[in-house]
Amino acid sequence: MAPPNSDAVAELKEEVLKLSLDGQLAEHPTQAAHGVNYHHPYSGEDGYAFYMPTLSLIGVGSINAAGAQIAELGYKKALIVTDKVLVKVGAVQSIINVLESIKVDYAIYDGTEPNPTDNQVDEGLAKLKEEKCDFIISFGGGSPHDCAKAIGVLATNGGKIHDYEGVNKTKEAMLPVVSINTTAGTGAELTRFSIITDTSRHVKMAIIDWKVTPTIAVDDPVLMVGMPKSLTAATGMDALTHAIEAYVSTISNPVTDANALHAMKLIKTYLRDAVYDGTNLKARDMMSYAEFLAGMAFNSASLGYVHAMAHQLGGVYNLPHGVCNAVLLPVVQEFNAKEVPHLFIDIAEAFGHRDIGEDADLAVARVLEDIRSLSTDVGIPKNLAVLGVQPEDFELLANNAMKDACGFTNPRKPTKEEVIELFRLAHTQ
Ligand SMILES: NC(=O)c1ccc[n+]([C@@H]2O[C@H](COP(=O)([O-])OP(=O)(O)OC[C@H]3O[C@@H](n4cnc5c(N)ncnc54)[C@H](O)[C@@H]3O)[C@@H](O)[C@H]2O)c1
Ligand SMILES: [Fe+2]
Repeated sequence: MAPPNSDAVAELKEEVLKLSLDGQLAEHPTQAAHGVNYHHPYSGEDGYAFYMPTLSLIGVGSINAAGAQIAELGYKKALIVTDKVLVKVGAVQSIINVLESIKVDYAIYDGTEPNPTDNQVDEGLAKLKEEKCDFIISFGGGSPHDCAKAIGVLATNGGKIHDYEGVNKTKEAMLPVVSINTTAGTGAELTRFSIITDTSRHVKMAIIDWKVTPTIAVDDPVLMVGMPKSLTAATGMDALTHAIEAYVSTISNPVTDANALHAMKLIKTYLRDAVYDGTNLKARDMMSYAEFLAGMAFNSASLGYVHAMAHQLGGVYNLPHGVCNAVLLPVVQEFNAKEVPHLFIDIAEAFGHRDIGEDADLAVARVLEDIRSLSTDVGIPKNLAVLGVQPEDFELLANNAMKDACGFTNPRKPTKEEVIELFRLAHTQ
């Protein structure tokens, strides 16, 4: 195929920009301002990239379907990376049954803890080598998936996990990872992110690398039925944060927008039901699709300052990731809305408001109110003070948040003083 003619590309960009500035594209009836009248109408010089596992299995029974697919991969021995709680409650047995049915050998590393650390990655790697495993199965929420990806990276690339902090730092493909997901959720079963705590610096490192994408992602809502209310709430608010941050991201595009908006719609409709009655399989099913969609959205569009700030709270205080996001979400979006108020029209519509018209101020007010009432209804703590965050740490937290790669795509660039102010607002709201 002939290379694209650069003059033609430049002309196309100019035309899109002109149309969008003239407001003509805003007439589109379904997607309102963002979907067609882009606030960043073109992608730069290299187009867009989309990242997904090779195969994703979703829905009731997908854990069983995973057996045949794992067998087809042809590996001999799996390291199951999980945590002690999931072993204790018997959940891990479901993947053991699958492996036994296809006669694939396994060993278990269950030392992963919430906000997994560099030390846990090293322990898991030692187990992988000792047991001579040739692939990895992560079983659990974001923590086992992230730990498994990091083990997979070190198994083939060597070195320490700190060497791969940043974007696309690995040289070799990681050892294949199959991710069986039990929360809804982080999206980590499908993403190219691995978030690992550096125990010496007390920061969460973001390893962002398309080579850490799992080969197979499995989202069976039956595995999520056992989540207690607080975990359902925190992980559901994490997914909502992914959707909103991806939607307002400076590198969102029509594909990620579609994923993000539908994720918001499902979360607004089903998160309360999933929290109030964990056995409501329809709500669990829809929340599992929602977290998957939100994961697809941020996997390519990235995130924003909610995550950049939440990672610091996780690193210093070891607080649940979803809870940190939920508390920060309205504060950071109120800040963002000053820059991109029109995007909140689409979000308000996804939340079910039909009377917004072109009133961006009304949209912002409704969205912030909805986020806050959803958080309250599902039992998220009110502010950072309740979580034990100390104001004297704001400076350090803000310094590190400004370096977090997730913040680079936030639609409004805060100064350090503004980040401190955002922490202060989230502390007292
Ligand atoms: N890689 C990514 O793309 C990405 C994105 C967002 C967040 N994260 C990371 O994911 C981590 C958070 O993951 P998480 O919120 O899924 O929780 P988690 O994996 O940390 O698990 C939290 C607790 O819930 C328990 N649990 C998990 N599933 C359960 C179930 N079905 N029933 C009962 N208990 C269950 C676990 O045993 C654990 O004790 C954070 O470290 C965060 O930084 C990663
Ligand atoms: Fe997250």
